[in-house]
Amino acid sequence: MIPKPSRQLAQELDANDSLGKFRARFHIPRDGIYLDGNSLGLLSRDAERSLLEVVEKWKAGGIGGWLEGDTPWFTLAEALAARVAPLVGAAADEIAIANSMTINLHQLLATVYQPRARRTKVLIDAHSFPTDRYALRSHLRLRGLDPDEHLVIAPAGESRFLDEAEIEKALTNPELQMALFPSVVYTTGQLLDLPRLCRAARENGVIIGLDMSHSVGVMPHALDEWGADFAGWGHYKWLNAGPGAVAGLYLNRRHFAPNGMVDAGLAGWWSVHKESMFEMSDEFFPGMGASALQIGTPAVLSMAPLDGALRPIEEAGLARIREKSIALTEFIINGVDAELSELGFQIGTPREARRRGGHVSIRHENAQPMSLALRARGVIPDFRRPDVIRFAPSPLYNTFTECWDAMQLLREIAATQAYEEFESTPALVT
Ligand SMILES: Cc1ncc(COP(=O)(O)O)c(C=O)c1O
Repeated sequence: MIPKPSRQLAQELDANDSLGKFRARFHIPRDGIYLDGNSLGLLSRDAERSLLEVVEKWKAGGIGGWLEGDTPWFTLAEALAARVAPLVGAAADEIAIANSMTINLHQLLATVYQPRARRTKVLIDAHSFPTDRYALRSHLRLRGLDPDEHLVIAPAGESRFLDEAEIEKALTNPELQMALFPSVVYTTGQLLDLPRLCRAARENGVIIGLDMSHSVGVMPHALDEWGADFAGWGHYKWLNAGPGAVAGLYLNRRHFAPNGMVDAGLAGWWSVHKESMFEMSDEFFPGMGASALQIGTPAVLSMAPLDGALRPIEEAGLARIREKSIALTEFIINGVDAELSELGFQIGTPREARRRGGHVSIRHENAQPMSLALRARGVIPDFRRPDVIRFAPSPLYNTFTECWDAMQLLREIAATQAYEEFESTPALVT
């Protein structure tokens, strides 16, 4: 039986929360409830420290920082890749820490998308994030292919959620060269059955890429075991590495040359073999592994916070993080059912734990002014068109009591129609 959600239950859950101690490691906005961990995670003291250490190193040693100290900037990306690899179930040399998610997607597409005589098309899902669609369309155009004809959208199925069986069927199209799916759908919070989709793609000879922006850092992944070809994600969401933090990518080693080199589709001087980099040669010697997908000088200041940001995650462990994430989202789902459904709110996220990611989508026809009214009262959710308020509690710094209090404020805003004063406020862009 589901225990009746209440503030008392929330407090009991907090008292028994083995991850509760991590909250003190974060800068929590004063007098507020921050539920936007899937857009921009909060700053941890660890991440602040690792950023300031780089600033100090720059201050004290100038260019020396590239080669000196425990973590020279020259190999900082590789050092971080080795720590991010276990979070996504990959070997260290299959990971690059570089660029942004969108740039990495362009790099991966430039490297692995090779349209052949009959196999030219790319499959995506009906709910794909705009950057994924735009990037794919531009690569089709660059290869002289008509995006309207060559970008295939898998039928959405009858429910609001994506149907893996429909996607499986679409993957049998013999004209497909590649497919790209999200791990967690950004609007609905649906977690796709990634092992199943990777298996189906491989059985059909289709290269499969994953946009894992909404799942890395909040649940375990097994990219090598699933047999994905490539993946990309950012570090500013659940990984708390800061606005514009340098992103991550994965390239399965089956795309390496037998000697381990990777010939980057978009090459720069950081795509060459590290040993020959400073020879400034006219000849191009590809770098080793996924690290060759870096392009130019790493954005060290945007990478530095990741060093510290990883620490609480490594200490907590992804299994415990996922367990608490499921408990938090379940608490929200039960709370909305019990307290908010009579006011026109609906859950827009799958109810089965294995089918949902770290956030809950709460649907209401007045979601937009309501999310603004929440902000005015110190609760930070976000809004996605047309009718979704996303509550994204971070297992590392949010409490069950915060989730309860945020739901009660939402209830009050709806019951008193306090949201009406925000009806003509311009749309949120977060
Ligand atoms: C699902 C998804 N994919 C891709 C991106 C794009 O990432 P970036 O803007 O860091 O390149 C985002 C950004 O929020 C996202 O949510």
